[in-house]
Amino acid sequence: MIDFHSVSSMVSLAFRHFARNPMASYWYVGIACGLWFFVLLFSLRLIYWLRDSPAWPAVLMRLAGGLLLAGLVSLALFGGIFAAMVWGGSYQVPKQSVHLASALLSNALLVALSGAVIGCVGGFWMVFYLSRVTVPRFAACLQKSTKKAFHDELTDSRTVEELLPKPIHYDPKQYFAECERNGNVFIGLDRNRQPITIDLDLYHETHVQLVGPTGFGKGRAAQILLTQAVRRGDAVVVFDPKPGGDEWLPSVLAAECKRAGVSFRYVDLCAEVAQFNLLCDIKPVELKQLLVTGLRLSRQGVMADFYRLAERGFAKRAAQGDFGVPSSLPELATLVREAAGEEAGELRGLLDQLDELAGIAAIQTAGGLDLADVLDHGGVLYFVGSRVDEEVKLLQPMLVQRMEQLILRRDKHSGRHVVMFLDEVKYLLSTTVLDGLGAIRDRGCNLILAHQSLDELVCIDADKETTAGIVNIDCTVRLCYRQTEPRTTKWIEDQTGKIIVNAVGRNLTRNAAMSEVPDEPRHIQQVQRAAIDSNMIERLPRGCGVLIGVGEARLLFTAPIVTVPRTFQPIPAPRVVCAKVVDQLLKPGDINVQ
Ligand SMILES: Nc1ncnc2c1ncn2[C@@H]1O[C@H](COP(=O)(O)OP(=O)(O)OP(=O)(O)O)[C@@H](O)[C@H]1O
Ligand SMILES: [Mg+2]
Repeated sequence: MIDFHSVSSMVSLAFRHFARNPMASYWYVGIACGLWFFVLLFSLRLIYWLRDSPAWPAVLMRLAGGLLLAGLVSLALFGGIFAAMVWGGSYQVPKQSVHLASALLSNALLVALSGAVIGCVGGFWMVFYLSRVTVPRFAACLQKSTKKAFHDELTDSRTVEELLPKPIHYDPKQYFAECERNGNVFIGLDRNRQPITIDLDLYHETHVQLVGPTGFGKGRAAQILLTQAVRRGDAVVVFDPKPGGDEWLPSVLAAECKRAGVSFRYVDLCAEVAQFNLLCDIKPVELKQLLVTGLRLSRQGVMADFYRLAERGFAKRAAQGDFGVPSSLPELATLVREAAGEEAGELRGLLDQLDELAGIAAIQTAGGLDLADVLDHGGVLYFVGSRVDEEVKLLQPMLVQRMEQLILRRDKHSGRHVVMFLDEVKYLLSTTVLDGLGAIRDRGCNLILAHQSLDELVCIDADKETTAGIVNIDCTVRLCYRQTEPRTTKWIEDQTGKIIVNAVGRNLTRNAAMSEVPDEPRHIQQVQRAAIDSNMIERLPRGCGVLIGVGEARLLFTAPIVTVPRTFQPIPAPRVVCAKVVDQLLKPGDINVQ
């Protein structure tokens, strides 16, 4: 074990011995000369490096370097003159000093060979350290503390958060009245807390797309848009496949309906309560479309299309009333199974799916809530569905389609405006609904579609590309929240347009200590960048989205509408019990049992 105490006492003893040595003073002078030489070199280099920079730290540094240089040179000059004067005898100094000076000069060789070597080594090390560590740090500080002449620049994912705004908290309601007076729809606040609005007529002509991961603000945006719709007297239809429904949206809309004196109708597709009749007032052609799309009986371009021919034909006959006119969906299932008879095996796909639908309690009624009522009288019709229950997943797109059919029945440009919010579109959309996007807009209905990423933008009977293609054409207003999925991020970025930004260029020099130091003169280069690029999109704060389609793309903050969360219960309707359907569901394998 090393005893540090004894080592340090040995070093101090050796130093004291050296200091008492009559030759020590020569060493000191030699060391000083060596240091002086290297510090002089360093000062010269520093001044040269900062020669063109007008920045105040650089000016200070240059001044300090200059003073140091002047001090060192004067020291050498005056020291030399003084020594020469003393040596020449023209200046009287105490005897002791004369002795020192003459000894100094006479021992110059010794000084150069011993102390100067140590001074040079020490000086070299000091300058090396300063050049390698201190100068690059100083250069970085200089660069960091420079106030930039322009703010649009190329982004860096490590520092992009500094360019993004901090979350803004506000009450959206305070902007509604004025926007309504001006014929606008409030969407949110920009980064300067200025309201962003869209002209009502323009808004009515387009469908809106909300894209973003869970918890980032799609629901808040929907609250803002739908609350204003209720205030304007529009009919609002919400499809919410979240289990148990959204935590806030039904409460916000129910409170707004109460305030506006209109009805809030709540339907829970998973509740064991009969609530509405899907076939209420349905026309044969509508029923046929509903069955063909909802039960996936249309041509898909695959081998199974051949087998679907028979099912499609049978569904058509059922819709035309060939097997009797059903008053509810469970009754339709019974009629079709009875009519199938011997052909049941061939029609299994159709029959089993109808049985599944008939098993959903929510639609086991011939009465109950009238789906068209909301279109006539306004207020809100709120459907809570499911993402897991297979039967409910089958019913949801049919229900959206049924609402679309009811809207398309209305006269062109007449009736109350309808806003339909489809949250998590992949559980709700079908090609029939997509194909009708243009038509329902003409009938006074615009949709708000919400999904997490492009991968989630699918419908039940078409591939991603087809779905995204149709939606992208028909939705001209988009609000996209933080995104990390690369394809979606790129898709958002591409829609924000391009801007010209100044990119700062610098030459890098390698100094003698092998450290890279940027040259002080900078030059700028103009380059093109997406107005809101992928680095920004990946780091957007919660509640902040990229608004596309309302003027230039920009960042927008949505905020929640404050309310007290409530729970809702559906209103029960008289339930129809179809013994045959129940039987079939109990024996799913035995399709021929009547
Ligand atoms: N009215 C409200 N009052 C208070 N907080 C709310 C309100 N509405 C939403 N929030 C909160 O704001 C955040 C974002 O919720 P939002 O419903 O907008 O998410 P989302 O993007 O729709 O996500 P998801 O896909 O899970 O529905 C959540 O933390 C939510 O609890
Ligand atoms: Mg949501």
